[in-house]
Amino acid sequence: MSAQLTEKIRKLKAERNAVILAHNYQTGDIQDLADFTGDSLELSRKASQTDADVIVFCGVRFMAETAAILAPEKIVLLPDKHAGCPLADMITAEQLRDLKRKHPAALVVCYVNSSAEVKAQSDYCCTSANAAEIVEGLPEDKEIIFVPDQHLGRFVGEKTGRNLILWPGYCVTHAAITQDDIKKAKTAFPDAVVMAHPECTEPVKEICDQILSTGQMLKFARQSEARRFIVATETGIIHSLKKQNPGKEFFAASERAVCPNMKRITMEKVLWSLEDMQYQIKVPEPVRTRAKTALDRMVAILPAK
Ligand code: 13P
Repeated sequence: MSAQLTEKIRKLKAERNAVILAHNYQTGDIQDLADFTGDSLELSRKASQTDADVIVFCGVRFMAETAAILAPEKIVLLPDKHAGCPLADMITAEQLRDLKRKHPAALVVCYVNSSAEVKAQSDYCCTSANAAEIVEGLPEDKEIIFVPDQHLGRFVGEKTGRNLILWPGYCVTHAAITQDDIKKAKTAFPDAVVMAHPECTEPVKEICDQILSTGQMLKFARQSEARRFIVATETGIIHSLKKQNPGKEFFAASERAVCPNMKRITMEKVLWSLEDMQYQIKVPEPVRTRAKTALDRMVAILPAK
């Protein structure tokens, strides 16, 4: 059944001249099906460079929206129209405008986990892989507003020594991982390296060994001499970690760290999406052009590691 489904998708994908992009949090079957699996920055770069006519985005809405902003001539499909991001919904363009009115001289950096309207109100966009590099590149005498993730914002503030104006947004999936989970995992696997995503809360990050984006986790695990790893992020990434490192062991810091929105994408929905050319993600002009300026700056800056 699954082989048949894969075959149908491959055939239709070729007919439509489509490319399938999948985030590291997707289920294993989707990651294996995709032409490219990666973190938010890698996927944005792929979307902006592909010569396919159609991009099937296996991820959440802001990721498909980002692809539609960067590649307006392509058809961008999100296989489940309800695959959203609660973190992205935690700030509206109106709320950001209010914050900007309070700090009229500030530059605005927004995390890619945000709506197109919020990006359009921002000077720079970033992902967790290059947030510190983006902030480091800003003039030292400038105030900086960082939205919407407070935990990534605090991490970037510490790393760069900049005093950022933060917004109290957070990822509900990463918030489910507690310091207690990490302590328990460390007791069970004392020799393991703990990798945490910057969206994790401060008590989690305080006792971890590495703070990395999902793409950086994959790179770090491949290059590390360690044999065991505790992974404090959405559990979907364990699939690629295991696949790329057959001799190493990976343990989820918490089995609760499952993003229900990422998991809305299924093989069937990918097939239906290509059959019906649904759901097309479009960003109206001029929101798109304004958001593109912030996103172009994001895709231009690579992470330091
Ligand atoms: P990455 O950019 O590290 O892949 O993270 C994406 C994300 O949405 C984290 O919740």
